[in-house]
Amino acid sequence: MLGGSAVSRTPLDREAVFFCATRGALMRNVLLRRGRVIDPGSGIDSVMDVRIVDGVIAAVGTLAPEPLEQVIDVDGLVVAPGLIDVHVHLREPGQEWKETIGTGTAAAAAGGFTTVFCMPNTDPSLDSVVALEELKRRTHRDALVIVHPIATISEGRQGERPTDYEALAAAGAVGFSDDGDTTQDSGVMRAALEASSRLELPIIVHCEDSALTGGVMHEGDVSERLGVRGLPPIAEEIVIGRDLALAALTRGWLHVCHVSTGTGADLIAAAKRQGVRVTAEIMPHHLTMTDEWVGGCRRLENAVEPQGLGMPADPETKVNPPLRTGADSRHLLSALKHRDIDLLATDHAPHARTEKQGRSLQNAAFGLTGSELALPTLLVLVRSGSLELSDVVNWLTAIPARLWRLPAGTLQPGTPADVVVFDPEETWRVGPHTLVSRGANTPLAGMTMRGRVKLTLVGGDERHRDW
Ligand code: DOR
Repeated sequence: MLGGSAVSRTPLDREAVFFCATRGALMRNVLLRRGRVIDPGSGIDSVMDVRIVDGVIAAVGTLAPEPLEQVIDVDGLVVAPGLIDVHVHLREPGQEWKETIGTGTAAAAAGGFTTVFCMPNTDPSLDSVVALEELKRRTHRDALVIVHPIATISEGRQGERPTDYEALAAAGAVGFSDDGDTTQDSGVMRAALEASSRLELPIIVHCEDSALTGGVMHEGDVSERLGVRGLPPIAEEIVIGRDLALAALTRGWLHVCHVSTGTGADLIAAAKRQGVRVTAEIMPHHLTMTDEWVGGCRRLENAVEPQGLGMPADPETKVNPPLRTGADSRHLLSALKHRDIDLLATDHAPHARTEKQGRSLQNAAFGLTGSELALPTLLVLVRSGSLELSDVVNWLTAIPARLWRLPAGTLQPGTPADVVVFDPEETWRVGPHTLVSRGANTPLAGMTMRGRVKLTLVGGDERHRDW
């Protein structure tokens, strides 16, 4: 249910739309034994066994091994539905030096994700049926996890002419976004949200008023200290306000990307209370890192060996929307816990080494690699008592599955065996050699994180193993 009205679209058929290549070793008869099974969709959080037969969840409970069954001891590990990331940048076509469908989905699998929604700021952008068909061809060939495309709101992401929403929806788009940029023209946004109300697909918005942009980090004390131009919170909040008003007018489904300010979260909460059909996402980096990181002070709450590694104005911290203040992070955490913000996503935004390192803050690209770091980063908040692990899993599985009516996000018997097994305690050092993604652009580089994905299955097919 969104804003009080039921979503009537038929569930997404994973065979009919975007799927992935079958290339792993199909685990036919497997028993995952004695793991902590967390399946928020079924209300399960206890030590149990999970049986997989022919790529499908066959049973969850206390189960005795059967003849010819492969038994995997997962004692001490967490077993959960494969995670769903509604916001990644796969960069293909057109920016393969940053990432490809192959490397981006391998990184997703290494981070425990079995379904991703890819953003359309590719080259060419995903603004036509032809572009979606080409993407489908490539995902069938190269993708290691299920990929659903987000198509653009405007032709070429130029913000001037709406795309053919009906045709793009029929070709498999799960939403529309000009992410990376804001659709400044309110008329185009109105048309998009009107189409959204017909199609029951979200308009996914990157909120930034173009008259107030040009900065490279959060506008505040730290930007002043560093002497660099800031991105004011109000640039984000003005557009959130406009888009909420347009969603109220049109009854379209608005999905606000990467909310980074406390006031932005409050605006969304107030609109929800008034029945506006709005959902919103927060990124792990906005919950755990602040603008102080840009100046070189990196303190990840409770991380192993918190370090002050950075140099002043570190380009690895440059992301849009920017890392905000500690007060914003705390406010966002509270909004998430109060269900004012619906879910978590990564905004995995890989860039080449040369687009970040050795550059000034001014010249570096915006974006952080996120797929493999989301879970370890969120586990920091779990260990500090700020979040419950079952809630984290819920925000990354059952909730996105329910909103988009995906046949995923649960371990219920009879559903495809999309499964992640992770060790919440294993430590590892973040760096280009330990990340699967082609992009190693993260302010966590060099830090030791706790929490490692051990096994990722898509439809029972092994897509990542670290055993
Ligand atoms: O930091 C960002 N990077 N924010 C965006 O909205 C786009 C993304 C990218 O595509 O690199």
